[in-house]
Amino acid sequence: MSDDAIKDALKMMPYGFYAVTSRNSDDVNAMVANWITQISFEPRLVAFGLQKSAYTRSVIENGRVFTINLFAKDDREKMMSFTKGRSRNPDKMKEAQYTEAPKTRCPVLDGAAAFVEFEVTDIVDPGGDHDIVIGKPVGAVILKPGDASQTLTLPDIGWSYAG
Ligand SMILES: Cc1cc2nc3c(=O)[nH]c(=O)nc-3n(C[C@H](O)[C@H](O)[C@H](O)COP(=O)(O)O)c2cc1C
Repeated sequence: MSDDAIKDALKMMPYGFYAVTSRNSDDVNAMVANWITQISFEPRLVAFGLQKSAYTRSVIENGRVFTINLFAKDDREKMMSFTKGRSRNPDKMKEAQYTEAPKTRCPVLDGAAAFVEFEVTDIVDPGGDHDIVIGKPVGAVILKPGDASQTLTLPDIGWSYAG
């Protein structure tokens, strides 16, 4: 615990841990993220808090598509090569193993348990260091059937991106 109760409480919120892939023309990228949640049933919409300085930000702004890759808890190692940003690891996609999602052609990372493809409906700047990317799901494939209790989460790896 710190002397900042807001920070400590925000860190107590449990999140999923995902890989977000994106495509703009021939350029593809993958990053890890946890600030992702469904925000509407009808129409179905999902919001993703995306750092303004992330390479993915410009890929999504120009390409207007992204894909959320979900992993099973046992496959956590398969996401670890995507924890570094493109500027620190310019070759991360050259070394990555992936196929193409059918609707958006965003990368589907090897080992993913499922993926959901999105078209971007909006990118909102709420005035902070992250923008809110809103996506409408246009396709999904389950590769390893399971339920939410088997999906990799941030508490599973003991990391935090909150506060
Ligand atoms: C555990 C963890 C969770 C993260 N969650 C997010 C997130 O939800 N949104 C975000 O924009 N960045 C998040 N990041 C940071 C990005 O992964 C990081 O900025 C990355 O370098 C972006 O990659 P890119 O520059 O290749 O797009 C997280 C990082 C870690 C380690």
